[in-house]
Amino acid sequence: MNINSLDRKMKSISALGVGVKATLTVGADDWHTVAVPRAGIRSMTLCDGPAGIRCEDPTSASPDNFNQHDSFPATCLPCGAAIGSSWNPELVFLAAAAVAREAKELGVDVLLGPAMNHKRTPLGGRNFEYYSEDPLLTGTIAAAFVRGVQSEGVAACVKHYCANNTERNRLTVDEEIDEDVLRDIYLRGFEIAVKRGEPYCIMGAYNRVGGQFCCENERIINGVLRREWGFDGLVMSDWRAVHDRVKALNAGCDLEMPFQTKKSSAAVARAVRVGKISAETLDKSVWRLKRLSALTAAEGHKPDYDENYIISRRVAEESAVLLKNDGTLPVGNGKKIALIGGRAVNPKFQGGGSARLNARRVTDIMTELAKRADVIYAEGYTEGEPDADKFAAAVKAAEAADVVIAVLSSPSTDDAEDRDRPGIELSPGAYRLVEELLKTGKPVALVLQSGAPVKIPCADRVNAILETFLSGSGGGEAAARILTGEVNPSGRLAETYPLRYEDCPAAPYYSESPETMRYGEGMLTGYRYYTTAGVPVAYPFGWGLSYTGFEYSDLALTQTDEGVHISVNVTNTGKRDGKETVQLYAKKRESLKRELIGFVKVEVPAGRTVRAETVIDPEEFAVWHDGARTCVLDRYEVVAARHSFDEGLKKNFAPVMPLQSANINEFNHKGEQIWEK
Ligand code: BGC
Repeated sequence: MNINSLDRKMKSISALGVGVKATLTVGADDWHTVAVPRAGIRSMTLCDGPAGIRCEDPTSASPDNFNQHDSFPATCLPCGAAIGSSWNPELVFLAAAAVAREAKELGVDVLLGPAMNHKRTPLGGRNFEYYSEDPLLTGTIAAAFVRGVQSEGVAACVKHYCANNTERNRLTVDEEIDEDVLRDIYLRGFEIAVKRGEPYCIMGAYNRVGGQFCCENERIINGVLRREWGFDGLVMSDWRAVHDRVKALNAGCDLEMPFQTKKSSAAVARAVRVGKISAETLDKSVWRLKRLSALTAAEGHKPDYDENYIISRRVAEESAVLLKNDGTLPVGNGKKIALIGGRAVNPKFQGGGSARLNARRVTDIMTELAKRADVIYAEGYTEGEPDADKFAAAVKAAEAADVVIAVLSSPSTDDAEDRDRPGIELSPGAYRLVEELLKTGKPVALVLQSGAPVKIPCADRVNAILETFLSGSGGGEAAARILTGEVNPSGRLAETYPLRYEDCPAAPYYSESPETMRYGEGMLTGYRYYTTAGVPVAYPFGWGLSYTGFEYSDLALTQTDEGVHISVNVTNTGKRDGKETVQLYAKKRESLKRELIGFVKVEVPAGRTVRAETVIDPEEFAVWHDGARTCVLDRYEVVAARHSFDEGLKKNFAPVMPLQSANINEFNHKGEQIWEK
């Protein structure tokens, strides 16, 4: 839709009284905006997000506004950690569109997602919702999600802007980040999502950055987001993240959510009358709200829930990462499988907090595997204190089988909003169970259900490990299809699995209840640190095996007006069709070994060679330097690699940077006027 032509059709909002306009800038209740029918402004419905739609059933007997049990059943996508590991923006687009169709059916105008903060430490409670420890991967996936949602006439709301990387003191913590690090790591994903995804909304985070609350942060909202990036959509606050409504509105936060008291809008009206907020500032916010209601007014298609289930299963299939395999997987025909672990029947398929929803049609591994193979099940262990009898029954089942598949999850208290994880360990019982199973001498494959990196039991002694994350509605079927070889796994880690938490670069700076969180590791976050410092890891960023093998040859780079074209041959050396993600890294600055500049996922039939090609923005070579993004080296070593530690194929390249045109206040990044009365 052409936003400018839409603007012209709108009646002027200047004629509304200040009091009415002020009311519009605060939510009507937890999930709705205020309506002013005489001005053509309708009430909009806002719902979480991001794994699916959590929309309260108004007829529910005991609505509490945040309880997923009272919400309409919805297809649950795999969590963000999984989605990031798919490295497949096209599939993410389809999945997001599926969620939006379900939203539209329920009259939802704004989906509160994608959630896309940078994963600074594996302890972050909301990491399961977020995509990656690399801003390019994060931003690319987020942009695809935004486009998918908005393709169905629902607004996406990118959250939480910005640097919302911990749940410790999350409502007040001040993130102290050097400017170049803020720009290249913590803002970069948002910048990509804004410029390539063009979201209609952004949600300001709870925390502070540089001493100012994000929703009241003039520099971050009006400065970077609007003036520099040309964002022309609506900025809303996270729920109760506004402390000073006048400051927030002046900083560019258009909508305070949810409804708190009449005080907020009264304060706004008073501030306009005494000149503390300009009439134009208020008009702009109301105009953005009105435009949002016009952009989301379209009728939706009726969702096909069976199709959406299949989409959620496909995402689970493309995101599961085969971390280790000595040939035990896939389990061959006719083999007797001992399936161990309570999570095989009662999966941990989603995280906690605002992302949690009332999921429809959740499949489990037990049911799905039993349809495909000869399975004996024993619970063995799920959570809490281990039970000797259950252990004994599991060992007995293992002894009677050809192969053991043990399904384990992160503790149920992990992977939730409002609390960081205490560590990366599973419950002690999980480690003991695997020890017992290994004693039987049978091959043991582990299936993990976690929203963030975990310390994997006996990782060096088990025969295979499949990380399935919190894999949503179709996760059980997806896992069964991978375990039996119907599907060849193709997920690649979007974050490093460290050997020990203490190895993580942010660990020394990560305090228990911080007033201020100093990002002392600077640019050395995630794989940028491990590869530069040569610190060994359990599984590197970008890692993931397949049931086939891949080889690269003939890397080529050229530049045209379109961008930098990078291509490489990928040969499938095995007997199964498979998908490979070619990762492109460059050494962009002296202080770091390599940084991701592009990626492309390709399907390669068994025994064949496919040319993997992508076009990247030359800006990917640039870094934040002296107040601008610029190339600091003359030549770049570009590497096409299978993961962040892989030597890969190398070629030197000197990109030509296009001249940057300056953005000014009233234009978006495409040069279109973004504000007219
Ligand atoms: C979360 C947001 C969420 C909002 C509404 C907040 O606590 O941080 O992600 O969208 O609640 O549920």
